[in-house]
Amino acid sequence: MSVIAFARVGRVLLAGALTLLTGLAAAPVHAETLRIACSALGEQRTLCEDGARAWAEQSGHTVELVAIPNSATERLGLYQQLLSAGADDIDVLQIDVVWPGLLAEHLVDLGPALGAEAQDHLPVLIENNTLDGRLVAMPWFIDAGMLYYRADLLETHGRAVPTTWAELTETATAIQDAERAEGTNDLWGYVWQGRAYEGLTCNALEWVASHGGGTIVAPDGTITLDTPDAATALDRAAGWVGTISPPGVLNYAEEEARGLFQSGQAVFMRNWPYAWALAQAEGSPVKGKVGVTALPAGPEGAPAATLGGAQLAVSKHSGHIDAAIDLVRHLTSAAEQKRRAIAGSFNPSRPALYEDPEVLEAVPFLADMREVLDAAVARPSTVTGARYNQVSTAFFNGVHEVLSGRMDGGAGVTAITARLQRIKRGGW
Ligand code: GLC
Repeated sequence: MSVIAFARVGRVLLAGALTLLTGLAAAPVHAETLRIACSALGEQRTLCEDGARAWAEQSGHTVELVAIPNSATERLGLYQQLLSAGADDIDVLQIDVVWPGLLAEHLVDLGPALGAEAQDHLPVLIENNTLDGRLVAMPWFIDAGMLYYRADLLETHGRAVPTTWAELTETATAIQDAERAEGTNDLWGYVWQGRAYEGLTCNALEWVASHGGGTIVAPDGTITLDTPDAATALDRAAGWVGTISPPGVLNYAEEEARGLFQSGQAVFMRNWPYAWALAQAEGSPVKGKVGVTALPAGPEGAPAATLGGAQLAVSKHSGHIDAAIDLVRHLTSAAEQKRRAIAGSFNPSRPALYEDPEVLEAVPFLADMREVLDAAVARPSTVTGARYNQVSTAFFNGVHEVLSGRMDGGAGVTAITARLQRIKRGGW
């Protein structure tokens, strides 16, 4: 299917998935209708809708929400098809922290309009979003992989919060076995994201980095994956499938893992901060029973949390660039990031909010977030630039083969390395 044809299909899909938010204020002289693509993962759609509505009411413009796939990998594919066809379907895009290098050529330089505000955000994110001196996106929220646990089950079974992967495996097995012996047959020890998509790259990077196996490609561009530590890390994860993790974990993304954990069917879960507000919400079967901490460390390594998160960007193909920049300004403002932190446990990209008492009361773990962020590992998106998606795809497909038992960890890291070398020959 040609790019143009796909863009047309995209238009049809998008048209069916719009929410219209019209400003109540007196319409400005040139009232415009903008489209924003934001995620519907968990509560994100409602939060995005409320933020966009507030802006529409103030500005008199109209905003339409475009539904996009939950999977980061599918979302990138949709954006790339639309943007490379020059489609004007979307004015403001929620983009992943690893995408600026992939999409920069299609994005507006926000520096002239929003550069002064950039200094209130974490410098590392501004650096991440600046390509060839152009600020192509404003930070919206930060993600970092975290370990969720059932504090009530740990207490009942006299177990401590695990700090190493070996302890996690042991504790998950013990609690799962004991609970099943009591008749809780649907309880699993550990759920995470094992589908072959970007989320698996995030999980597997945590396993490998925490075992001392590096970050796939080092900041200087060297491919570092083919080590015994990385192989051990992948073998360990493969050992969870069908033992402490349901066989279906090989097709789990964030929401499948959260669904199981939140319904009370898992002792541990790896997920992003958004899962906290939902687990603690009224009506959640695990409300008041959940703790959250850093992911475990490997035998020699330290804990590692993959750095994720979303940025907001304006498409160069937009017919409403000034209004779109103003919408980005509103959505990434301190007031809006505070609202999203309190309502949805989205970690602000503005350091000042980590000291805000109302934010800390709603999301207590934010006080310790610095520690988690100190242990954060970045995916190699800056060094591999326009090749990042190929690198990540080679990595998650290879890891998925190991998890599915088609190769062991050693053969897996060797095979992935060979694929990465081929990609590197194309240049990074
Ligand atoms: C979250 C993170 C993003 C990551 C994705 C993987 O949305 O914010 O950085 O790529 O999950 O599923």
